[in-house]
Amino acid sequence: MLSKWKNHNIEDVEVNLLLNALKERYGYDFTGYARASLKRRLSELTHEFDVQCLSQLIPLVLYNETVAQTVINNISVPASEFFRDPLVWRHLRTRILPQLASFPRINIWQAGCGHGQETYSLAILLHETDLLKKSRIFCSDINPAFLDEARTGCWPVRYKQQGCDNYAQTGGCHAFADFFVEADNVMTIRDEFKPPIEFIQHNLVADDVFKEMQWVVCRNVLLYFGNALQERVVNLFTRSLERGGYLLIGRGENIVDLPGKHPELELLDGSLQLYRKRIGLS
Ligand SMILES: C[S@@+](CC[C@H](N)C(=O)[O-])C[C@H]1O[C@@H](n2cnc3c(N)ncnc32)[C@H](O)[C@@H]1O
Repeated sequence: MLSKWKNHNIEDVEVNLLLNALKERYGYDFTGYARASLKRRLSELTHEFDVQCLSQLIPLVLYNETVAQTVINNISVPASEFFRDPLVWRHLRTRILPQLASFPRINIWQAGCGHGQETYSLAILLHETDLLKKSRIFCSDINPAFLDEARTGCWPVRYKQQGCDNYAQTGGCHAFADFFVEADNVMTIRDEFKPPIEFIQHNLVADDVFKEMQWVVCRNVLLYFGNALQERVVNLFTRSLERGGYLLIGRGENIVDLPGKHPELELLDGSLQLYRKRIGLS
């Protein structure tokens, strides 16, 4: 019992030391991230780097930038798909985009864009609903390496089949592959989808808002954050939104009573995790 207790505490101490090393040396502050999933990913890294315990990873992180980058990439989790969670996209297509059409311009902040699969899914959907011309998509991520990849608009063709299946479930009536040019096992998004998109490095832990947004999309990011950080980020999103603007978060984000804590937001659809900033004061 005593040794179990000790091990548990040592693990926490090690996690704190490692996170402080990343913060002091590289400016990445992961201290507000949800501990359970963070520990799981750090524990996987000890296997990858073949070290006995997490504290042995600390000097590697401090003195080897490649190791540090792997650890940072692993903590920030870029996993994504085209039209991930297709039923949400189906509702966006049929119910939400027709309402967004009433705005004279549509500024969208997509926070935590990873390698860009979600970004270009958005662009495709806006194109199909004839809204791309009046849209601007500001895509942000903490990780500049992910942003560089997203900016190229290229992915290995192994992403295609999943994209085709998901897109079909959204009610799309084109061939998913037609949105890309394919060569040498790489699929590249067609140029017409790129112009309204800007990729910007932005840290939800420390940076400020994007102003006058009609729509904020942030899926599969908040679930990695602890409660206090989730609060901060939902505040940022609320301040970013114009009145009447929409907030879409992921269905598995695990945020309890969001409108209770942020009365400026009203819940439009709990199963979609879709909110709107109230037009009048609540
Ligand atoms: C699992 S991916 C989600 C990608 C996409 N939104 C989706 O749902 O498919 C999480 C993304 O959040 C980004 N992220 C993590 N912490 C962040 C932070 N503090 N600020 C901005 N982005 C962050 C990661 O770099 C990663 O690209």
